[in-house]
Amino acid sequence: MNHKGPIRMELEAKSYAFCTCGLSQRMPFCDGAHKGTEHRPAVHACERAGAAVVCGCRKSGNFPWCDGSHKGAPPEGEA
Ligand code: FES
Repeated sequence: MNHKGPIRMELEAKSYAFCTCGLSQRMPFCDGAHKGTEHRPAVHACERAGAAVVCGCRKSGNFPWCDGSHKGAPPEGEA
């Protein structure tokens, strides 16, 4: 599943492994599909539970959180 925009979701107060390769079928979370690539998941500890806006384009300067970078990102394959 390849997301290009923000993913709004509820997160718990725990650590998550966020996908950085774009190959996961469980976006925004790593499902191990990065194996064989140079990518590794970004492990992030959420300090409190609540609503979050997670980056789906993987271009955020504040990954794993959306910073609006998807608005200026060219469509995949058109960089
Ligand atoms: S599946 Fe994308 S980083 Fe693991």
